[in-house]
Amino acid sequence: MSISRSRLSEPVTKFKVENSWSFDNLTQKDTNYLTHCYHRYPAKFIPQLARRLIIENSLDGDIVCDPFYGSGSTILESILQNRIALGTDVNPIAHMITMAKTTPLDPSKISKTKLSLHHNIKNSSSEENHDIPKELSKWFDQETYNILNNLLSQIKLIKPRKLQIFFLCAFSHILKTSSYWNNGSVKPHKDKTKFLNRVNDPLSRYFSQVNKMEIRNKQLIDTLSPKIIKNLDFYRRAFVGDLQNLPTIDKSSLIVTSPPYVISYEYRDIHSLSLSFLEDFFKDIPSKKHFIGSSHRKSDDKNLYSHTGGLIADSLLSSSKSLSKTVHSYFIDMQNFFHKSYDLLKTNGKMAVVIGNTALRGVDISNTQVFDEILTTIGFTEDKIIKRKIPFKCLPTTRDPKTGRFVSSNTTHNKSYSHEYIMIYSKN
Ligand SMILES: C[S@@+](CC[C@H](N)C(=O)[O-])C[C@H]1O[C@@H](n2cnc3c(N)ncnc32)[C@H](O)[C@@H]1O
Repeated sequence: MSISRSRLSEPVTKFKVENSWSFDNLTQKDTNYLTHCYHRYPAKFIPQLARRLIIENSLDGDIVCDPFYGSGSTILESILQNRIALGTDVNPIAHMITMAKTTPLDPSKISKTKLSLHHNIKNSSSEENHDIPKELSKWFDQETYNILNNLLSQIKLIKPRKLQIFFLCAFSHILKTSSYWNNGSVKPHKDKTKFLNRVNDPLSRYFSQVNKMEIRNKQLIDTLSPKIIKNLDFYRRAFVGDLQNLPTIDKSSLIVTSPPYVISYEYRDIHSLSLSFLEDFFKDIPSKKHFIGSSHRKSDDKNLYSHTGGLIADSLLSSSKSLSKTVHSYFIDMQNFFHKSYDLLKTNGKMAVVIGNTALRGVDISNTQVFDEILTTIGFTEDKIIKRKIPFKCLPTTRDPKTGRFVSSNTTHNKSYSHEYIMIYSKN
């Protein structure tokens, strides 16, 4: 394939914002409706955005795919719209959350299990000290670790697996708030003062999350079509693993996804508490290099189809050779992802990619332009690019000027992320 220059008629940054796609009238409560409240996740979709893309670009019974499903927003919204949901994520925590969010459970089984969990915890001792694994010792004091460890050993006894996943999901959700992890930070930052003025009570936090999820489970049962509930494994095909391993036999009509950004989040770090506590529950724990966008990842030195992508990597060379390599690797990963998407889609199928442009060390990372060049070289055609405002309450909008990682907005004034783009392309 040859190298492409963008065929976009004008830079996307000059596009007019389409307000109806910004959803800035929605509160956090609105975006956490139904089972979307089960677990926090960085860069989570506004479910209403995924839903609108699904309704406008696919039909009942179509396969809708998200190869980076994260907390499963697209997967849940697809089955709510009577589509077949297909997807994968390399992060086992993402898989656990997605399975919990999309599995309606018998309410009486939840309440019975909750009661016996209560009872067993009361009657078992958490006084005995257990060795805190090295990766957790920074985050928990001995007493909190004992309580959590005791709770987890009770959850381990829950059967069947789908019921256990529900209780595990609540456990994973409360780990950060029960630890010294700085609540406002998407990086592993310690807040030593966190429990100076208040008591750390992980058990009441846990059961209050379970109570909330119990109510939402009932709502899920009332909202999902009975046909989907009866044939859940057919309608919800959520895999765990690298997107390149996603089966392509049944072709999708639509892909709705938000890929990772380059060196923005280290997903392995962000979920380190859950991954350490729950490691026995997962077959494989991926290392940082398995996550696209990670600075630890090195992709093959393939030919990049995007002229702009090459220029961006070259511009970074003078400030950091390794950063230039990471950015180049990221674009190659995205190129491989777009090739895979082409295989996954039916002829005339559509892909909606939600992405923003950013900046690193003063160099503009024009993801939209690079993606457009790659997509058109592969054989996609542009349908529409929508510019939307990101409501500040939903996503961090600032990057650390040195590292380029997302940080909370009170630590820097380097705003780089107030808009994003929905790139809708067709396979002809
Ligand atoms: C921006 S998040 C997706 C968030 C999602 N839209 C949601 O609503 O929660 C990007 C996801 O890509 C996943 N990811 C990174 N590298 C991957 C790979 N090689 N294969 C599959 N998923 C990957 C990360 O684990 C992360 O969950």
